[in-house]
Amino acid sequence: MTRPITHAITNARFVMKLDRLPRVVADGPLAADVLELLDGKVEILPWPAADERLTSVDAIYTFGHPRVDGAMMDRLAPLAVISNYGVGVDHIDVPAAVARGIPVGNTPGILDGATADLGFSLLLAAARRVVEGDRYARSAEFTRYDPAYMLGREVHGATLGIVGMGRIGAQVARRAHGFDMQVLYHNRNRRVEDEAAFGVRYAEFDVLLAESDYVMLTVPLTDATRGMIGRDALARMKPTATLINIARGPIVDMMALYEALSTGQIASAALDVTEPEPLPRDHPLLGLGNITILPHLGSATVQTRRKMAELSVENLLLGLSGESLRHEVRG
Ligand code: DGY
Repeated sequence: MTRPITHAITNARFVMKLDRLPRVVADGPLAADVLELLDGKVEILPWPAADERLTSVDAIYTFGHPRVDGAMMDRLAPLAVISNYGVGVDHIDVPAAVARGIPVGNTPGILDGATADLGFSLLLAAARRVVEGDRYARSAEFTRYDPAYMLGREVHGATLGIVGMGRIGAQVARRAHGFDMQVLYHNRNRRVEDEAAFGVRYAEFDVLLAESDYVMLTVPLTDATRGMIGRDALARMKPTATLINIARGPIVDMMALYEALSTGQIASAALDVTEPEPLPRDHPLLGLGNITILPHLGSATVQTRRKMAELSVENLLLGLSGESLRHEVRG
């Protein structure tokens, strides 16, 4: 049984004394370490049904990527904070939260290494046909070694084009140097001061697509990046190129990708994210051999997920106490 406590929530628009634990709506099931960190500090309520109006909710905690829009914020108002387990907040209407004075917390800076590692795993797996090889090695068709089968493409000496030179893009660039790759990048704002530090050369988007053997997407999902890899972009890539997406599914037009892969317009793709997620089981992309698909594992390591739990819970509790969040998304 939870012991009622007196808990003050005070921020610019929100001053409240509670004779109970703060109530937090969360999309579950939550990971064990999140539950452990929240234990005794808040009361967790199930995600409300569409149109459900709850009056005594103090915060929202988003664990997966549930949609949070202005209407939901109004149905749960007043809210002291929205805290997200993860860096990407495209599922939350941040301008709507800002307009309502609700701080939105996320977890940048602690998952860059894990996500870049996964991007590189996908690049290597696609280049050297690792997943396809694993399937073949387990199958009855594998009866003898044949030096002519399953030739891949080299990674060392190849050109990697990174779309988005934020924290994750920079970590990918560092790894690429270890593999003796040339690295191009494209970013909304050219990062001249970082070019020498990360050993990267700026390229216009079309030039990057045309010159890269591997194109890796690390941009956030925004109105400007939604659908940025569609038919036009794919047509500019080399027929030997591989597309790797470790950002968000909607950045790539899935049907355009299917056409490009099935007609040999590009050689292969490796996706950690899709649109929708998961893809319907009868989606044509799932029937292709030249694509590797993971179930959104970018930051999924024991160490990084623990840090994400800690930071997202810290943001939540700080917001509930009316203090500045460790990381607040600026709309
Ligand atoms: C992120 O941090 O954005 C990951 O995709 C998990 O949500």
